Amino acid sequence: MHDRLKNLPGALLPWYEINKRDLPWRQDRAPYHIWVSEIMLQQTRVEAVKGYYSRFLEALPTIRSLAEAEEGQLLKLWEGLGYYSRVRNLQKAARVIMEQYGGRFPESYEAVLDLPGIGEYTAGAICSIAMGQRTPAVDGNVLRVVSRLTADDTPIDLPACKKKIQEELREIYPDRAGDFTQALMELGATVCGPNRAPDCEHCPCKAFCLGYLQGNAQDLPVKLPKRGRRTEEKTVFILNCEGHYALKKRPEKGLLASLWQFPDVPGKLEIPDAVAEVKKMGLSVKEIHRQVEKNHIFTHIQWEMRGYYLDVAQMDGDFVWKTAEEIRSEAALPTAYRQFWDEA
Ligand code: ADE
Repeated sequence: MHDRLKNLPGALLPWYEINKRDLPWRQDRAPYHIWVSEIMLQQTRVEAVKGYYSRFLEALPTIRSLAEAEEGQLLKLWEGLGYYSRVRNLQKAARVIMEQYGGRFPESYEAVLDLPGIGEYTAGAICSIAMGQRTPAVDGNVLRVVSRLTADDTPIDLPACKKKIQEELREIYPDRAGDFTQALMELGATVCGPNRAPDCEHCPCKAFCLGYLQGNAQDLPVKLPKRGRRTEEKTVFILNCEGHYALKKRPEKGLLASLWQFPDVPGKLEIPDAVAEVKKMGLSVKEIHRQVEKNHIFTHIQWEMRGYYLDVAQMDGDFVWKTAEEIRSEAALPTAYRQFWDEA
């Protein structure tokens, strides 16, 4: 056992009792609720998740309702959260739970880990928080906290680093496993947060944190250099005909699969070429209102987009023409495109 970690539960649990944030997924311990929250919280900030979490569970209150939901409803509930494969896997797993476990969330760590979309982190979080098992859940927050506590400069992106931290934590997990999982995350999200120097003065671990005692906590964790993103340029058309907007559904495979989009073409076009593209779509431009530049960053790609707001003369072309109300209530329009809509 790492000597810096043995004091962790004793220091962290009382701190957590006093400092824990009041978050919607801390109201109860239903495995379904914890599962949905942990999937949403992967790659997404707590503040952004709150509203989605409540709406999702209101619309789909049971594992059965999730298993039986229509794809359009699912994507709409996830609209703007990004990484849409998360919600597809959520439904796949719900179907497995209905078929193999009679609709009851499985209890063993191995069975949970076997469900679609659930990796070691999520399985550890669900089994500890919802079921009280001593299963560590090592996410970026926890990697940061432990690297600093142990002053370990092994790059945290290395699978071996995560493995080691998981093993070390497993040895010190206390009986209050769920609280401990959340306390570790909480420290990593607040006092020992990312992208800035840690607030060691307010940390319950400062008496034994090696990074703090050695004065290098702010230089940890070490990360491997990031691989670059490639950039794609696009021209996006917000085509309006009598209050209806041209939309099309994206392909079933690939980036933003099955979500809706405004029509677009590669490259950032100047006005004459943009008008020519609209003609190719079988439409004639009545009026050009304005153009707006927007970017959107995905994991591996960045889109640099120029949007044209155009009135066109007919509702033709290979599109579905939807009203503002239909776009609001029915169509899952991902953030990359929605940012143009918010200005329409
Ligand atoms: N990030 C990931 N899981 C979390 C949780 N349960 N509470 C707060 N932040 C989190």
